Amino acid sequence: MTKNVLLLPGDGIGPEVIAEAVKVLDHLRESYGLDIDTQYADIGGIAYENHGMPYPPETHKKAVAADAILLGAVGGPQWEALDYDLRPERGLLSIRAELDLYANLRPAVTFEELAGASSLKHELVAGLDIMIVRELTGGIYFGEPRGHQTLDDGERQSYNTMVYSESEIERIMHNAFQIAEKRNKRVCSVDKANVLQVSELWREVAIRVSAEYPSVSLSHMYVDNAVMQLIREPKQFDVIVTGNLFGDILSDAAAMLTGSIGMLPSASLDANGKGMYEPVHGSAPDIAGKNIANPIATILSAAMMLRYTLGFSEYADKIENAVKKVLAEGIGTGDLKAIVKTQVTTQEMGDSIVKTIV
Ligand code: IPM
Ligand code: MG
Repeated sequence: MTKNVLLLPGDGIGPEVIAEAVKVLDHLRESYGLDIDTQYADIGGIAYENHGMPYPPETHKKAVAADAILLGAVGGPQWEALDYDLRPERGLLSIRAELDLYANLRPAVTFEELAGASSLKHELVAGLDIMIVRELTGGIYFGEPRGHQTLDDGERQSYNTMVYSESEIERIMHNAFQIAEKRNKRVCSVDKANVLQVSELWREVAIRVSAEYPSVSLSHMYVDNAVMQLIREPKQFDVIVTGNLFGDILSDAAAMLTGSIGMLPSASLDANGKGMYEPVHGSAPDIAGKNIANPIATILSAAMMLRYTLGFSEYADKIENAVKKVLAEGIGTGDLKAIVKTQVTTQEMGDSIVKTIV
């Protein structure tokens, strides 16, 4: 049966990188019989411009109906002064919450050709392969109470709440352990249990769930140490499981280890494996519209989508192999300037990958 993919280009470089992923998907459709249909909808700043809100009901309807979603990026300086609920980022948080996409998988993998672009020494990052499993619909991002208030003496105060219920921790732990079973069988749970009650519960549930996965070892690390260890000796990690805010921070740090944040895909899954796929990088407004952004993170996100939600692994393999080959030929966008032989534009990168697919 034909699968329906919803494309949400969003803002900044989002439309440019989505266009290259679409080029790749169209090629697989036309030349290799990939059976998907695509539709577009607005999210983020562009949705605010066209519909007055960052996650309009039309978009929600299409998202619910789709088998999988591929998103570019949201946000830009022109929308920063908007009310909190109208900001582009709210669109992203809304679709994650409304579709219950609680499991965010962010691989940090070094491509051999790019190890030289990392801010760390080659031997520390060569062969790096970490999977960060970030809880995405809970924690301080969504916790109540939240808001601003004015105290009796007139001073203003603002607050958010980091809250996790047992069931929320349990389900993300199952994701992490099941992923680790297929990898190197090590889960490191990152928390701040020396200070936060919410982390005490996190740790307790992690230990409880780990009993169901005897082949996987569980360790714990405080988040401040985890970020230090990521920079000191990143290859000690296999799967990292952590809450929403800690995962946001750790995944940016891990991304940089691999050489370029422009290379990293991600998946956000619900309990049935339906998912939204997006590059880890943001909308990069400073380079938007210049045809210089690296589309590989989005193209690899499309590959992840084919593999994990749509069940088309053979097509995912084709994309991933083509990306590796193109990099091995020394072709890359400006962000990889330091290490590529041939610097290409966003569109040329998409073309090169299409040409290399076999
Ligand atoms: C991410 C981003 C988002 C987040 C922002 C844009 C809301 O940083 O996907 O990591 O904090 O989750
Ligand atoms: Mg982030």
